[in-house]
Amino acid sequence: VIARRWQVNGVRREVEAPPLEPLLRVLRERLLVTGPKEGCGEGECGACTVLLNGEPVTACLVAAGAVPEDSAILTAEGIADLELGRVITESLIDHGAVQCGICFPGMLVAVYAYLRDAREVTAAAAREAISGNLCRCTGYRRIVHATLAAARDAAARGRDWRGAEACGADANGDASGAVARSADSGNAELFAPETLAEALAHRARHPGSLVLAGGTDLMAQRAARRSEPLLGRSPSPPVAPESPVLFLGGIAHLRSVSREQGDLLIGATTSVETIAHDALVIRWAPALAQAARLLGARPIRHLATIGGNLVNASPAADLVPPLAAADARLLLQSSHGGREVPVGAFYRGYKQVDLRPDEVLVRIRVPALRAHETEGFRKLGTRRAQSIAKVCAAVRVRVEDRGVARITRAAIALGSVAPTVVRLPQTEARLAGCSFSESLRPQLYAWIAGEIAPISDVRSTAAYRSRAAGVLVADLLDELTQTPRSE
Ligand SMILES: Cc1cc2nc3c(=O)[nH]c(=O)nc-3n(C[C@H](O)[C@H](O)[C@H](O)COP(=O)(O)OP(=O)(O)OC[C@H]3O[C@@H](n4cnc5c(N)ncnc54)[C@H](O)[C@@H]3O)c2cc1C
Ligand code: FES
Ligand code: FES
Repeated sequence: VIARRWQVNGVRREVEAPPLEPLLRVLRERLLVTGPKEGCGEGECGACTVLLNGEPVTACLVAAGAVPEDSAILTAEGIADLELGRVITESLIDHGAVQCGICFPGMLVAVYAYLRDAREVTAAAAREAISGNLCRCTGYRRIVHATLAAARDAAARGRDWRGAEACGADANGDASGAVARSADSGNAELFAPETLAEALAHRARHPGSLVLAGGTDLMAQRAARRSEPLLGRSPSPPVAPESPVLFLGGIAHLRSVSREQGDLLIGATTSVETIAHDALVIRWAPALAQAARLLGARPIRHLATIGGNLVNASPAADLVPPLAAADARLLLQSSHGGREVPVGAFYRGYKQVDLRPDEVLVRIRVPALRAHETEGFRKLGTRRAQSIAKVCAAVRVRVEDRGVARITRAAIALGSVAPTVVRLPQTEARLAGCSFSESLRPQLYAWIAGEIAPISDVRSTAAYRSRAAGVLVADLLDELTQTPRSE
């Protein structure tokens, strides 16, 4: 077990729990803080949203061992005691935005986090802020109206609400900040090093140990496995051994974005939310920032890391197509040294990656856009937030204008149409020298349909995927050949 001291709603609490026990369970069952609710248990509904060191996260996906010593945790109970929390609660009630109440604790936290940080409050941004929170009773219109009314009331009070909840150490810190070293607590099950060298030495001693980053895939997979017998299914093989766990969130060095000789270097545990808003990524790898903005919802993006998205190896992983289209390379390191592998070569089949048991993904090297290049990302899902792609596409093109925009190089990567993310070398070669016009569409659709063989599954049919892939790529080419290119 891990032993930690946290500030929970401003009160110092001591806790002992297995390292992979969800924070939600620790709060509800060990600390008897029952405001956060368990709805889905897999990050989908938002009923368990809490503020962890100032950031909204779904507590059902946070491993107890990933919560640093001295963390500040604020739940609906704590927020309801704050002035801004009271304003929001009253507004939600006055606007009839609370009925059965199951979503309310998570909704309150999400709205609070939005109003606390927002400089300008709009209905669209309010919708985005609550996009990870499901409400089955009220309808979102009332919740959005209540949020806008609360924003007016809060503004009339003339206060800056940022940091208003400071109820413990580092209230505005990073959710994945420094972690109490496991060696200090004598904990053999979870190792949370502060340096990469320590992590690699641990990996060498325990090859095949369970690497934990944001936990949004691992914890969701563990939760899904727990519910299999309840659904009458025989349990699938364990997705993770119980020990030992190597938690990477305490290594500050792995959370960074920098530019070096025409490449972006992104640390493996950089959060998806950071990538979505990082100025270097937006300027030099904009398709990656676009994909990051469309991944999950805010509480998921704060936890999720780029490395986890790559190593989890889902064919629907949103960040992989932009990286594949950019010819990104992955730095894999062990205590014996490092090697760089092109992202395309990293995937060997469905959920199979070229990662040795003693290696860790350390960094991603993304070639920055060069002169005359531009890129974009598009995704089709069942709804806008929290939806795994039916199909997603990233395109990076070099376009030269000689009276008419002509594509001189195209790189196209698709997700959810094969066991791994795929590039389309034949279509790419055919596009070189073409100008995009509506008359090219039928040909493009045929080229793409001839190069992929998607399957039908619960999310979509093969025929739909084939056609949708063509439409996404054509729409991207249309847009990219009209927009300004990198100089
Ligand atoms: C509600 C919900 C919505 C989601 N929506 C989307 C979506 O829209 N699009 C999408 O692409 N994904 C989505 N996901 C999936 C998930 O959030 C992402 O794949 C995320 O980027 C995983 O990162 P993580 O840090 O949480 O990974 P973790 O769960 O910590 O790890 C995932 C896997 O990678 C391994 N690993 C992690 N980091 C390293 C490393 N540095 N070196 C070696 N191995 C490593 C782990 O051992 C594990 O096998 C969603 C998940 C949930 C729960
Ligand atoms: S319980 Fe549904 S997101 Fe956590
Ligand atoms: S009020 Fe019932 S789910 Fe939102």
